[in-house]
Amino acid sequence: MKYTPEKIFTKNLILEPIKVSHAALLFTQLQSDKLYTYIPVNPPESIDKLENKYERWSKGGSDDGREIWLNYAVYHRSIDSYVGTLQATIQKQGNTYIAYEVFPHFWRQGIAKEACQSLIDYLFKEFKLKRVMAHVDTRNIASQKLLQSLGFSLEQTLINADEFKGSKSDEFVYALASHK
Ligand SMILES: CC(C)(COP(=O)(O)OP(=O)(O)OC[C@H]1O[C@@H](n2cnc3c(N)ncnc32)[C@H](O)[C@@H]1OP(=O)(O)O)[C@@H](O)C(=O)NCCC(=O)NCCS
Repeated sequence: MKYTPEKIFTKNLILEPIKVSHAALLFTQLQSDKLYTYIPVNPPESIDKLENKYERWSKGGSDDGREIWLNYAVYHRSIDSYVGTLQATIQKQGNTYIAYEVFPHFWRQGIAKEACQSLIDYLFKEFKLKRVMAHVDTRNIASQKLLQSLGFSLEQTLINADEFKGSKSDEFVYALASHK
């Protein structure tokens, strides 16, 4: 099952479904190492490679139909700039996970909270989901604070969940239930 997402408008932001053309617009901001401290990802090597990734993402889901992928470039209207990206993976027979990044220049302005809240509301309404989850490196305080402020609860701790950038990582699994 694939899905064609639409723009989501919030008070300050526009969540734009990611297209190939976003690669050139986001590439420079995506170079900051601060975005990747706690995730097994590195900055994109070139606009071409980022275009290839966004082409895959913009298909809206996995070829086997088991996952729906929603990916957004987050545009801030009054700042007049892209400020981050947002992601949801909906497993048809499983869980739904969100992921997010705000470019460092725009941290601590409530942008991730506003963007994630609107995406979660959309996921609950559009897909009638019962809950949404997120995995967070136990060292990633900013991400944990964000999830807590959105109402997520800690469900599980995964020891040695991953290994990247020279060290093993533990992860917290957070979940938020729909109230409907
Ligand atoms: C995690 C991240 C998205 C937060 O973005 P942000 O726009 O700065 O977050 P917000 O301003 O919306 O803050 C949301 C809440 O988290 C808190 N918070 C954010 N960063 C924090 C930090 N470094 N330390 C403590 N609290 C923090 C805020 O105070 C706010 O709490 P409140 O609602 O109770 O006031 C951002 O730090 C980031 O992009 N990090 C790198 C990428 C990453 O790690 N992504 C997550 C992978 S799991």
